[in-house]
Amino acid sequence: MSVVGTRPNYMKIAPIAAGIAKREELEHVLVHTGQHYDDSMSRVFFEQLGVGAPDHTLDVGSGTHAVQTARVMERLEPLLLALAPDVVLVPGDVNSTMASALVAGKLDMRVGHVEAGLRSFDRTMPEEINRVVTDSIADMLFIHSPEARTNLLAEGAPEETIVAVGNTMIDTLVAMLPRVEEASTGASLGLTKGDYLLVTLHRPALTDGPLLAEALARLAELARELPVVFPVHPRTRARIDALDLAATGVRLLDPLGYIEFMSLVRSATALLTDSGGIQEETSFLGIPCFTLRDNTERPITVTAGTNVLLGLEPRRISEIPDLLAQRAGVRPASIPGWDGAAASRVLAVLELDELPSRVALTAARRSDEQRVDGAVREVGRPQPLV
Ligand code: UD1
Repeated sequence: MSVVGTRPNYMKIAPIAAGIAKREELEHVLVHTGQHYDDSMSRVFFEQLGVGAPDHTLDVGSGTHAVQTARVMERLEPLLLALAPDVVLVPGDVNSTMASALVAGKLDMRVGHVEAGLRSFDRTMPEEINRVVTDSIADMLFIHSPEARTNLLAEGAPEETIVAVGNTMIDTLVAMLPRVEEASTGASLGLTKGDYLLVTLHRPALTDGPLLAEALARLAELARELPVVFPVHPRTRARIDALDLAATGVRLLDPLGYIEFMSLVRSATALLTDSGGIQEETSFLGIPCFTLRDNTERPITVTAGTNVLLGLEPRRISEIPDLLAQRAGVRPASIPGWDGAAASRVLAVLELDELPSRVALTAARRSDEQRVDGAVREVGRPQPLV
């Protein structure tokens, strides 16, 4: 069973679902929690990615973190009990991911986390809490970059639970690239290839306070020299509407489908974003990406890719033309496992005659703890100061 809930999840699971569909001995049940529910945030992706409609939808909708998480847990539990899947796959770092891992783990079902081990080390991000909790429960930690292994080992994950599979979101991009290249979304919007800044901003740290108005003001300034196109997430749209701005010269669009959006990415001069996935996709495609955040859980996109962290500082948007001039000639990143074949490596694990058992993994965790305990005994327990 795979459980998805939000827009970026679909691209991470689609290639795994396609791989399972080709194997007679495996059966796949796709559950959509309904965390994202607008057609433009959900249905259009299932259609374009060819995954087919989800087998079950939980209709949890929007709510506070606690409400959304609790609804997923309440509604997923009976389904898990009825279907008793061998493995529950959860991708990414959204509330649906963590909630599903919690329910499945407590029912003693094997949990596989696709995109495990990413850390921003910023606990003010709800996603960071989701990542840490999900990884602490998952039995199979499917990672896409080397720093994920380091992070997981540092948190005490047993080595044998970590499997480097690569990036399944890039699998989707590789598979869809011919259709992305056929689409000419930019031209239909009157944009010239290589001559516009594409923007996506949706994180609470940016949208739910004064920074959004400042970002829009800086973008309006920039739009005088470089066209700025901004497909707007519903969360951000609500905030922009509340600001009641005069026309800014920034082209605000409704959320786009996968093909339309990636077609715009492919032809953009650069991206300005606070999304995680876009840092990866632009690195793979060789498009400069400016990330309006203080940190990234995807540092490999900075060290090996095209990503530049601007900080959570909208004033730095004005530096983009100069930064671009310095970055002429950036190339697509070549990152091991970001190659279109990550899902087949996940499937190789799912096809093992014997999947790692929770009992064995629990024993591994315990012996790790004992090792730590042993080390403490050797060095001597810390003595009280007084
Ligand atoms: C969620 C994830 C975030 C991810 C993002 C991708 C969490 C904590 N956050 O953020 O990590 O980067 O998805 O898009 O899980 N809304 C609609 N229609 C929809 C969905 C949402 O109008 O189909 C509006 C609602 O007003 C809702 C708000 O957007 O309250 C936020 O949605 P929510 O799912 O809570 O979080 P996202 O901001 O989408």
